[in-house]
Amino acid sequence: MSMPASVTTAATRGCADPVAADGAATWRACVAPMLDWTDRHCRYFHRQLSRHARLYTEMITTGALLFGDQARHLDFDPAEQPVALQLGGSEPQALGECARLALRWGYAEVNLNCGCPSPRVQRGAFGACLMAEPALVRDCVAAMRDAVGDGLPVTVKHRVGIDRIEDYGFVRDFVGTVAQGGCEVFIVHARNAWLDGLSPKDNREIPPLRPEFAYRLKREFPDLRIVLNGGVRDDVQMREHLCHVDGVMVGREAYQRPGWLAGWDRDYFGRELTPPVDAQGVEAAMLAYCERMAAEHVAPFAVVRHMLGLWKGAPGARAWRQAMSDPRHRRLDARGLFEVAARARTEAAGASLAAA
Ligand SMILES: Cc1cc2nc3c(=O)[nH]c(=O)nc-3n(C[C@H](O)[C@H](O)[C@H](O)COP(=O)(O)O)c2cc1C
Repeated sequence: MSMPASVTTAATRGCADPVAADGAATWRACVAPMLDWTDRHCRYFHRQLSRHARLYTEMITTGALLFGDQARHLDFDPAEQPVALQLGGSEPQALGECARLALRWGYAEVNLNCGCPSPRVQRGAFGACLMAEPALVRDCVAAMRDAVGDGLPVTVKHRVGIDRIEDYGFVRDFVGTVAQGGCEVFIVHARNAWLDGLSPKDNREIPPLRPEFAYRLKREFPDLRIVLNGGVRDDVQMREHLCHVDGVMVGREAYQRPGWLAGWDRDYFGRELTPPVDAQGVEAAMLAYCERMAAEHVAPFAVVRHMLGLWKGAPGARAWRQAMSDPRHRRLDARGLFEVAARARTEAAGASLAAA
C-alpha cells in the first residue's frame, strides 16, 4: 500500500504542528459526505484504514427519514465511529426530530447540508440555497440543538457563496448568524455554488476555490471550529491548510486513493495503528465483513465497489480492480471474488516483474 510521501512539516513553515493537541483533534481529518459513495459499507472500509478520521454519511433528507425506512437509512456498524449523520432539509421542526433520531441511533454528530446545489435539492428549498436565508438556518440549528441538548454537536457544511456573490462579507454574515443558533463547527466547502445551471459535478470543479475565505473565518471567529473542504489532494496541501484552520475534510481524493487514509492516524492524530495497516490486512477484514453482510443479503459487489482504489499505485492494481468489478464475477460469493482478484493481482505483478 502506498503510504504518504514524506513532506515538509508544517512546523518548518512556522505554524503549529499538524497533530492537534488532545480534544482539538476531533475534526482534524475528515472524509466528506458523498451521495451514493459514503454508505455504511464504504465507511466500514475507510475505518479499516484510519481509526480516527471523522466519517460522514451521505446526505439523508428529513422526508426520507421521517416517512421512510429509518433502519435502512440509519443503521451502521459501531466500528464506523466516529460517524456523523448529514441531513438535508429546511424545516426546523423536522430537522429537530431527525436530530433526535441521530442521537437515539448513536451518531457522534449531526450535520446540516447548506452546500448541495442540485436542482432537485433546490426544488426542495434546502442545500446551498439555504445560504441566502441565514436566519432560517439559525432557527434550524437552534431546533436541532434543542432536540439533542449537549448529547451531540450540531454542525453545518456550506459554501463560501452562491451564484456570483464573491464578497467575503456574505459568508461572514452567514456564519455569524448561524452561530447564534448554537452551531460551533462550520465545514466550509471553499468555493461558490452556482445555482443557475451548473451540474452538481461542475459545481465541484468550476467555481474557483477560495481557501483564504475559510482562513479569514477562523481569524474572525477564533472560538468556532472551522474545517476546510475542497480540492485537497495530498499531505502538503492538508498541512498547509492546517496552519490556518482546525481541520480538513477530503472527498474525492479519499475515495479514489483510500491508501492515503492509512497515514492519517499518525500524521494528524499522533497515533499509530498497531499493527500498521497494509492492503492485505484490509482485504482480509473486508472479506470477513462481506461474509457477515451476506447474512443480511448484501451482495459482495455492494461492498467492494468502494474498495477499487485500495491497491492504487501497487503492481497488479489494475488487474485486481478489473477482477473486483468484472460483471462476470457477480455470481461468485465473497471468498471466491476476493480469491479471483488476489490471483489476478499477483499474476499481473509477477508478469510485470518478469518483463522488467
Ligand atoms: C459523488 C459525490 C457525492 C456528494 N454528495 C454530497 C452529499 O451528500 N453531501 C454533501 O454535503 N456534499 C456532497 N458532495 C460534496 C463533497 O462532500 C465535497 O464537498 C466536494 O466533493 C469537495 O471536496 P473534494 O474536492 O475533496 O472532493 C458530494 C461529492 C461527490 C463527488
